[in-house]
Amino acid sequence: MKLLVTGGAGFIGSNFVRWLFSEGTKLYGAHRVVVLDSLTYAGNLANLAGLDKEYDFRFVKGDITDEAAVAEVIASETFDAVVNFAAETHVDRSIVSPLEFVRTNVEGTQVLVNAARKANIKRYLQISTDEVYGSLGPTGRFMETTPLDPSSAYSASKTGADLLVLAAHRTHGYHVNVTRCSNNYGPYQFPEKLIPLFVTNALEDKPLPLYGDGKNIRSWLHVDDHSRAIGLVLEQGRPGEVYNVGGAPESEKENIEVTMAVLKLLGKPETLIKPVEDRHGHDRRYAVDYSKIEREFGWKPQVCFEEGLKQTVDWYVNNKSWWQNIKSGEYLKFYDLYYGERLKK
Ligand code: NAD
Ligand code: TYD
Repeated sequence: MKLLVTGGAGFIGSNFVRWLFSEGTKLYGAHRVVVLDSLTYAGNLANLAGLDKEYDFRFVKGDITDEAAVAEVIASETFDAVVNFAAETHVDRSIVSPLEFVRTNVEGTQVLVNAARKANIKRYLQISTDEVYGSLGPTGRFMETTPLDPSSAYSASKTGADLLVLAAHRTHGYHVNVTRCSNNYGPYQFPEKLIPLFVTNALEDKPLPLYGDGKNIRSWLHVDDHSRAIGLVLEQGRPGEVYNVGGAPESEKENIEVTMAVLKLLGKPETLIKPVEDRHGHDRRYAVDYSKIEREFGWKPQVCFEEGLKQTVDWYVNNKSWWQNIKSGEYLKFYDLYYGERLKK
């Protein structure tokens, strides 16, 4: 397959591209991949280092909101599919500056799906999130039919994007799919999200800012399990369908449990945990019913959370220069703005 992967210099996109050239090739044959990414603070060419030398791979710097740039890359080759990972992705940043989320997540998605359809690219896959469904109480799981009820500018903008993509199917009969996954973890995740932030802070003996009572629940999905699901939907997804992709029930954890597990793996003291003021509009619990993708394509998560977390923590221990380069400059500005007052209280 020839794929245009937008947002491929970020965490999940870069893991997916590496997965395509290894496991994906064993399953589906050879691939050619072009990554289009504007390299925001979260995009990092180091995540794709060496791929152009070893594989049929090309990187193009460009913004998905830029119609001319998108048209140019789409006209440059004959693609079989577009997979869109490009997004502003951090809930806390969306609380501070929501407009960028509307621009990239909503406008950018519309530019992309429009261009892909007009160029007769056979398939368009939108990588979305379980956060479009809002927050759960103590029981139940999100199904594809659960009403959309987003809480943040991040999840609201992802919801808008989903609806625009699905509208391209209803209006034009275009072959689109949307996947909605739960919280991913693994290597190359930008250290603003819970697991990489807490691992890298603990390695530097800095406080771990745990929001509220620490009992919010997330369903943890290893990024390789996610890549396998994306491969299946790309190959077999039925037109206009949404597929939920989630962690196993055993991977549904309170944040405090994840925090304690990280500290234990690193041999660091619990005194590093610093309870801080809660995130505004903090969703209490996410859990995903993935029976549709299991029934249709036989997918279910394979990486057990304890093992996956250990491998992930080891990766951050062994790749200090990757995250130390990031945890400076612009990163520190956001960290001080967002956590400064919270950590003083
Ligand atoms: P990320 O923040 O690590 O990477 C996003 C990438 O998109 C970066 O490389 C960035 O440079 C690029 N990008 C941003 N704006 C762009 C623009 N206007 N034009 C071109 N490129 C742009 O994100 P991630 O964690 O890898 O998430 C990938 C996708 O998966 C997102 O759509 C996100 O909503 C979704 N998702 C992520 C998670 C998770 O746990 N990380 C969970 C559910 C869904
Ligand atoms: P995050 O990784 O930001 O993902 P999301 O908000 O998209 O689920 O957060 C995961 C959970 O960890 C969420 O319940 C918020 C919590 N959290 C903290 O307690 N402290 C932090 O510093 C961060 C970034 C997250």
